[in-house]
Amino acid sequence: MRRVRSEKDSDYYKVVDDAINSYTWAALVKLQERGVVGEVLGPVGQGKEAKIVLAKRRDGGYAALKIFYPVPVRFTKSRYGYILGDPRFRNVKISDQLHLVELWCRKEFGNLARAYETGVRVPRPYGFYRNVLAMEFIGVGRDPAPTLADVGLENVEDPEALFHEVLKNLEKIYVVAGLVHGDLSPFNILYDGERPWIIDWGSAVRRGHPKEYEYLKRDVERILEFFQTPLDPHDVFKKLAERGSQRGPVEVDEEGWVVVGGKRILDE
Ligand SMILES: Nc1ncnc2c1ncn2[C@@H]1O[C@H](COP(=O)(O)OP(=O)(O)O)[C@@H](O)[C@H]1O
Ligand SMILES: [Mg+2]
Repeated sequence: MRRVRSEKDSDYYKVVDDAINSYTWAALVKLQERGVVGEVLGPVGQGKEAKIVLAKRRDGGYAALKIFYPVPVRFTKSRYGYILGDPRFRNVKISDQLHLVELWCRKEFGNLARAYETGVRVPRPYGFYRNVLAMEFIGVGRDPAPTLADVGLENVEDPEALFHEVLKNLEKIYVVAGLVHGDLSPFNILYDGERPWIIDWGSAVRRGHPKEYEYLKRDVERILEFFQTPLDPHDVFKKLAERGSQRGPVEVDEEGWVVVGGKRILDE
């Protein structure tokens, strides 16, 4: 089915503004043709490297479209490190910026999908094409959930319980999914008033990446700093690293804690 541009399409073009050029527009149409998303509604969020646009799903629900800006210059520099050194991208030649943006989008989708399948609380991935990633929209009505940084620790009813939820997810990411998020911070956790949602998976690397421990340590430090827990970040980092390299059975108990060698991380 070929879709011809209409009056209405050019309205969207204005609404969605600079994130949408013809390259991106074609990607959106592709996702519509594939039935991944329906009507595109307009921008609801803004990140450093992408714009978040709300779209409808065929079932009446919403999807968040993460649209990576096609040509930012700083892109190349800030992202090389995460792609080079990742065994999945060993044979990929980065020949031009558009290609890199597509690679980044595919990488984020792959990480998100892996985390989702492992039971990490992330928006459900729906699909991607070129520089557009479609995922579950986290929010109420058309309003996106705020980030933990926006909410602030002082406005969280039960900070300890929320910290535990984040720690469970952090450990699942590393020990069960075999990934390091790489940019974990209160800016990349959405909070719907009840539960935390880990977003922004473009920087994640698999275990075995040369900077695995550096990134893991930084992720732990940022989380512990936000929650102002009395735990020593180095200690938590070390436990995670040890638990990740154990060969025995790994389980997730009924409360969602990762259990390694019969123990939860906080019981060690
Ligand atoms: N699935 C989602 N549902 C609702 N809002 C989202 C979703 N993903 C991202 N956002 C919003 O968009 C912002 C930027 O997303 P993010 O993935 O962190 O982009 P960047 O890589 O540019 O930092 C988030 O802070 C949030 O406000
Ligand atoms: Mg972000």
